[in-house]
Amino acid sequence: MSMRAVFSSSLSHSLCNFNAEHSRSVSLSSNSVSFGRNVSGMVVCATKGGNNRTLTGVLFEPFEEVKKELDLVPTAPQFSLARHKYVDESEAAINEQINVEYNVSYVYHAMYAYFDRDNVALKGLAKFFKESSEEERGHAEKLMEYQNKRGGKVKLQSIVRPLSEFDHADKGDALYAMELTLSLEKLTNEKLLHLHSVATKNGDVQLADFVESEFLGEQVEAIKKISEYVAQLRRVGKGHGVWHFNQTLLHGEAA
Ligand SMILES: [Fe+2]
Ligand SMILES: [Fe+2]
Repeated sequence: MSMRAVFSSSLSHSLCNFNAEHSRSVSLSSNSVSFGRNVSGMVVCATKGGNNRTLTGVLFEPFEEVKKELDLVPTAPQFSLARHKYVDESEAAINEQINVEYNVSYVYHAMYAYFDRDNVALKGLAKFFKESSEEERGHAEKLMEYQNKRGGKVKLQSIVRPLSEFDHADKGDALYAMELTLSLEKLTNEKLLHLHSVATKNGDVQLADFVESEFLGEQVEAIKKISEYVAQLRRVGKGHGVWHFNQTLLHGEAA
């Protein structure tokens, strides 16, 4: 029994015969190479300018193909093995964003401590800011994990000492703290967009996707939510209304 594999190129058609039993063939259309396997091994038929060449025993040579990639695998132990298409600018921008998230987390932690004081005692706001602080630290950690994944090095920077008093003569403490929160969330959004632009500028599709899928959507949601809290606090004034607002945060009823 004989089997025939036919394949074509844009320039010519070629024909390749296999005379072994149980042979298998694969045809690559619009290409100049086709291959088949029979009981004695591989057969490659190449077509170029109408000339047929038959090579036996070799499909392709992976070590030839990856030679230049092998040169990219460092031998010095201080260099990452995983790093690939990850530029210094992206690495620095990730470290910068880690610092932003830590700073914001620190401010929210200070707000938690303020609203938890015995003479302030707005437990719902304290709970909200504690959770917010933990969330921002979680963002920092997610970025750290990503930095390592890409073969960069996490370099933590200093964080700024936050305020400890949040009372404001006209606005009161709750509204003042929430307006500050809104500003911080918008600032964080700006920094994330900068990180995304660094990724795009350097053609780092993977980093751009990471920022989009893990951060940008959530950031827009956060800005909307905090904006609503600011609007509600402006409506209720400084006294009794704040206590009610606080209760909704405490019992998870805030919408
Ligand atoms: Fe964040
Ligand atoms: Fe946030």
